[in-house]
Amino acid sequence: MGIPKHHTEPVIGEEEIRGRVRELASQIAKDYKGKKVTLVAVLSGGAVFAADMGRALWEAGLREVEVDYMAVESYGAGTESAGEPKITKDTKAPIAGRHVIVVEDIVDTGYSMQQLLSLLKSKEAASVAVLALLSKPSRRKVEVAIDYLGFEIPDVFVVGYGMDWGERYRTMPEIVKVVMD
Ligand code: IMP
Ligand code: MG
Repeated sequence: MGIPKHHTEPVIGEEEIRGRVRELASQIAKDYKGKKVTLVAVLSGGAVFAADMGRALWEAGLREVEVDYMAVESYGAGTESAGEPKITKDTKAPIAGRHVIVVEDIVDTGYSMQQLLSLLKSKEAASVAVLALLSKPSRRKVEVAIDYLGFEIPDVFVVGYGMDWGERYRTMPEIVKVVMD
């Protein structure tokens, strides 16, 4: 299936992302000093952010950090959430007693994060926090508390830095918006 004719326009550049990742990492390193943390990256988009964040945390002095993954399926190749996302992959390691930080690329309607958090909370983690690179607050359908946020963006469809459109653009180092031609 091809995707419609479109072009992209810059939203957040590589340098700006790098700077914000560093700022968030130093805040998190301070908040979790002396604790053992598990970053739970939400596949696939959150994996890129989690990889950079893990290294930034190391540089900020937080080194007892494990990385695990969960997957939630909200929509396929479209740009609208179907409303009832399904958890399709659970964490590998048990997380009871761990300090969990869920790492997500973007919180849109909030349905995916709501599902993830309810599953994670049932596992008796010592604590669960949410780290999201982006948030579109104007699109929220269910309330989600984001503990650490990179950037707020308006209601535009963005790709790059882990985010895709029908599996395209995930490997682009910057964040751009998709504009239909
Ligand atoms: P939510 O369940 O509506 O909050 O959707 C969250 C998920 O939808 C994110 O983890 C992304 O995978 C995807 N998503 C939401 N908005 C965008 C976007 O602008 N570009 C790419 N993916 C998005
Ligand atoms: Mg996602």
